[in-house]
Amino acid sequence: MATLRIAMAPGDGIGAEIMSATLELFRAAGVMEQVEFVPVEMGRSVFETGNTRGMTDEAIRTTEECGVLFKGPMETPKGSGGKSINVTARKMWNAFANLRHFMALPGVETVYTRAGIPVNFYIVRENIEDTYGGVEHRLSNDMIQCKRLISAPGSDQVSRFAFQTARRLGLKHVHCGHKANIMKMTDGLFLDRFRFAAKDFPEIQTADVIIDALCMNLVVKPQQYQMIVLPNLQGDIVSDLAAGLVGGLGFAPSANIGRHISIFEAVHGTAPDIVGRGIANPTALILSGLMMLRHIGLTGPAATVQNALFAALESGARTGDFGDAGKPALGTRDFAKAIMDRLGEKPRTVPASVGDGERPTFKKPERPAHQQVIRTFTNVVTHPVGCDVYLDTPLSPIAVADEMMRACEDTPFRLTLISNRGTQVWPTGSIYTECVDYYRVRFEMREGFRAGDFGQSRCIALLDKIAEKFTVCSYELLRVFDGVRGYSLAQGQ
Ligand code: NAI
Repeated sequence: MATLRIAMAPGDGIGAEIMSATLELFRAAGVMEQVEFVPVEMGRSVFETGNTRGMTDEAIRTTEECGVLFKGPMETPKGSGGKSINVTARKMWNAFANLRHFMALPGVETVYTRAGIPVNFYIVRENIEDTYGGVEHRLSNDMIQCKRLISAPGSDQVSRFAFQTARRLGLKHVHCGHKANIMKMTDGLFLDRFRFAAKDFPEIQTADVIIDALCMNLVVKPQQYQMIVLPNLQGDIVSDLAAGLVGGLGFAPSANIGRHISIFEAVHGTAPDIVGRGIANPTALILSGLMMLRHIGLTGPAATVQNALFAALESGARTGDFGDAGKPALGTRDFAKAIMDRLGEKPRTVPASVGDGERPTFKKPERPAHQQVIRTFTNVVTHPVGCDVYLDTPLSPIAVADEMMRACEDTPFRLTLISNRGTQVWPTGSIYTECVDYYRVRFEMREGFRAGDFGQSRCIALLDKIAEKFTVCSYELLRVFDGVRGYSLAQGQ
């Protein structure tokens, strides 16, 4: 009699084919004695009813009750209002960490296996913030903006999860990948919080690596990494690079971990080019399912299935997308059958997986009574010291400066800088800097004023005056936080 319910959405495209093969394998390994997979409706069929979330209310309710969702790939409608279900689900349920394991599998030949270079590492990617908020605006005829949001609590959650996972897996090194040399404040915060979290895990060595160098290192010497923690967009890109190191997306499992709800899925998409032919490779979904079984405490069946999978791969079992082309390619079902036939066997070429959890230990935390506000820094003393005003105008920097100097007469502010696309163009700048029709104009306190002498309303009054002649697209308050500047300088300032 099953004791735990898991919401299950087969997905679109090849989803149904690989999900049914995976569940058949799990049934053969005895998983269904412990787990009931409850089908939920998500994906294309739901989008087609005009539901832009792509999941029914019932599917949302069931997933929230279960706390675990096992899903196949889902198509993101192009051009219509429908948003990616994967992104919606991760954000809506606060699945803040994306965990992926990249491991060379037996029978999956790559340049690294041929060279005898072992590849076996994890990526923990922040899963909610960064540019994935999709907060985008057209600011002028020629300029579009996407806001990149990185928070301290969000960074804390992902780094703590990474270190806890590294400790559970017995890893010795964790790296933080970032671009804090350029994005000193956003990536700087991500890196600072990584270092802060590391203090509670003294047995784990840490290092940081700039994202571009990381990409090269991964290609040249992947064996130097055990776990890499990354912000969202960088993590997205590096994860696919990493999938390439182990044979492609067909072998990349992923877990989206949240405090209340976790989602397990393969990294690849719906593979529209091979749908309905029964030839899709279910390995990535099976591996995602193994991460899920371990997450709920069924480490015994997870080890049994993993050993059988590896034994089958060693024997040359393959689908058409990988392996020794001299051996026949199996269809999805026959590939799953080849694994089932080896349940109870151990692989020869890689260490056997072990685990003895035969009953689910997962307990979903109580449903929160209301949305939580999570905070890292409290009791910070902040004061406005100026504002950045963003203008939609085709004027030249000099002409903008003339107008802005007039606008700030008789206010607490003086014009200190104008930048275009982040590069200072006034009071000094290069004649070679080409400008577009969108400017940032910085106003800072005049001499004689001190932080705390005026409030935000003085900035709003200035905006009001500027707006009489210009289109003000947005503005950012410049503040000091416990005396520390809370804004970046322009390139060239
Ligand atoms: P894709 O991953 O579906 O396909 C890329 C290539 O890899 C294709 O040639 C495909 O045949 C092959 N492939 C992928 N999975 C395979 C498997 N299990 N076995 C054998 N071959 C496999 O990526 P694409 O074409 O960019 O996206 C197709 C659709 O999938 C889009 O609608 C996209 O939005 C969606 N998608 C969904 C994801 C998810 O639900 N997690 C992730 C990525 C894309």
